[in-house]
Amino acid sequence: MKEKKLIRLNNLLLKIFFIAFMTAISNSSYSDEGKIELIKNDWSFKGIIGTFDRNSLQRGYRVYQEVCSGCHSIQHLSYRNLSEKGGPEFTLDEAKAIAEQFEITDGPNDEGEMFTRSRRLSDKFASPFPNVQAATIANGGAYPPDMSVLVKARKGGADYIYSLLLGYEEPPAGYELDEGIYYNKYMPGQKIMMSKPLFEGSVEYSDGTQATEEQLAKDVTTFLVWAAEPHLEASHKMGFKVFLYLIILLTLVYLSKQKVWSRPDLKEDSNQKEETFDKVERAATEYEGEDPKTFR
Ligand code: HEC
Repeated sequence: MKEKKLIRLNNLLLKIFFIAFMTAISNSSYSDEGKIELIKNDWSFKGIIGTFDRNSLQRGYRVYQEVCSGCHSIQHLSYRNLSEKGGPEFTLDEAKAIAEQFEITDGPNDEGEMFTRSRRLSDKFASPFPNVQAATIANGGAYPPDMSVLVKARKGGADYIYSLLLGYEEPPAGYELDEGIYYNKYMPGQKIMMSKPLFEGSVEYSDGTQATEEQLAKDVTTFLVWAAEPHLEASHKMGFKVFLYLIILLTLVYLSKQKVWSRPDLKEDSNQKEETFDKVERAATEYEGEDPKTFR
């Protein structure tokens, strides 16, 4: 019997091992074929206690503003988000000054007329185009996607955006590219209708950081990750608290289980049994001889 069980267990283990092995093999050959490994970065915001690099976020905003915002909108962000905790944390005055650089149509006023005014903290980010169609026409037929959730919408997230920004190169010999289409090794299909947006020194950093292509890409990617998830830090903090709470709860439950289900030492137990037995016997002898019916 025992041997049979052992053999069955062995077979099961073999099967599990085989399946794991096959998945590993098929995965690696899959990634070898069509996929190109993304450039991996040590992002400060990864992991359950990850936080954003404040300076990188502020520089990233500048890159977005000066380069990407010519074509890409971030519709769900308001200027006040720029000064909120967990974000770039510009001061309120800085955020106000940023908002005031952009105009918006408001109204109607008392005379029933629409008017333009500068934006306030409560206003949404200005969009480069009035609608999707206008944006598509202006970009030769390709819509520059809104960046509100772009990082989340693309497989590979931050690593993909970073790699894409640095992935422009000369097409291989004999590769046909139409007018307005560029070769990017990280874009699915390698063809992209966005010309290379970042070059060394595209943005002049005021904090003395070298504006290399990699640095610009890193900063703007960090900013876009935050833009897609402005409350990431808060949820990380909450997640960490819940984790801690669960650990404490688990320890308490374990300790009380130990206490409630603890059995007195076996030796003590048999002593106790003996004592009880003695008592019963003694009581029985005391009443020996008496008629049980007279005993109350
Ligand atoms: C001149 C306009 C223009 C500028 C400036 C620009 N983009 Fe784009 N971008 C586009 C267009 C158009 C597309 C759509 C390309 C396509 O679908 O082939 C695009 C697509 C993208 C994509 C999506 C790729 C995908 O997987 O579909 C990302 C990410 C992106 N841009 C990031 C940026 C960043 C970051 C900047 C600023 C550093 C920037 N872009 C600046 C026009 C622009």
